[in-house]
Amino acid sequence: MLTVVVDGFFGDTGKGKVVSYLAAVDRPALCVRTGAPNAGHTVVLNGRELVLRALPSCIVVDGPVLAVAPGALTRIDVFLGEARLAGMHRAKVDGNTGIIEERHVEVERRDQHLMGTVGSTGQGVGAAMAERVLRRLRLAREFRELEPYIADVPAMVHEMRGMGVVVEGTQGTFLSLYHGTYPYVTSRDVTASGILSEVGVGPKAADHVVLVFKAYVTRVGAGPLPGELPPEEAEKRGWAERGAVTGRPRRAAPFNLELARRAVLLNDPDQVAVTKLDVLFPAASGATRWDQLPQDARRWIQSLEDSLNVPITLLGTGPEPRHMVDMRREKLGP
Ligand code: IMP
Ligand code: MG
Repeated sequence: MLTVVVDGFFGDTGKGKVVSYLAAVDRPALCVRTGAPNAGHTVVLNGRELVLRALPSCIVVDGPVLAVAPGALTRIDVFLGEARLAGMHRAKVDGNTGIIEERHVEVERRDQHLMGTVGSTGQGVGAAMAERVLRRLRLAREFRELEPYIADVPAMVHEMRGMGVVVEGTQGTFLSLYHGTYPYVTSRDVTASGILSEVGVGPKAADHVVLVFKAYVTRVGAGPLPGELPPEEAEKRGWAERGAVTGRPRRAAPFNLELARRAVLLNDPDQVAVTKLDVLFPAASGATRWDQLPQDARRWIQSLEDSLNVPITLLGTGPEPRHMVDMRREKLGP
């Protein structure tokens, strides 16, 4: 079984939380992370918040091998730090993964267009991607420090598919280089097909595509955000968040059905997850069953499901991986 988890808005919808839940319940043998260290995936491990920038969010459970995709980029220090945290035997990086070096960060931080106009996180990802396209970037296989961790990730996915593989997407649909709000986007395609291509598996290999929305929309950096609220209003509603990597305040807006429909068109999910339902409906806090949800929350989810015409299978009701209503069996069958 191969499940790919992608974000339907502008990142920060809680993919990390969804992936850590799937890791705990489905017990996959392998998890693969895509993207680069500009994205921080927040997971809660034993009540402690952890921001991951290299390894997949499946780190919260002991079993799975944790791999970085060939199309991803990583930083050696960040990777080694998280490998130590995970247990070094289970951290893997593909030989073809691109390596971000200090000079990429420096180049990016001097780039007025990226830092000023686009609102880049300044992590050197775009600069390294540009070098990769020019065929100058050094890859993981060229670094001695990474030697013990080098793996053929596409081959591993192929071999371990029967034991469960989770592929963790990065950022969000509307930050996609191809399908997002260009030029206010990141330096890669982050829709489901782009994520699978980054890992090195064909589109037919995915058994499930989980599209994650948050119960409201947030965006860090520049670019359009329809229905954006003044910061005071976002604060009042409990929607004021900060970027996991940069600490910048996230801009906020109410849930946007038009964007959600477009994200369904671009990712073709077989199921949808909605996170932070408890922020919109406090009485939903900590629920693990549909019948524990307040009626207004149930009505909202039902009407969203009708409008998107995709089963909503997972509902996030709190920060811990276990705070989840899981309706996959009822809605998709065994
Ligand atoms: P860059 O990819 O770091 O150059 O940033 C380009 C745009 O994508 C900026 O608007 C960033 O705020 C946004 N971005 C990059 N990574 C993330 C993320 O993980 N979450 C949310 N926004 C991100
Ligand atoms: Mg994030």
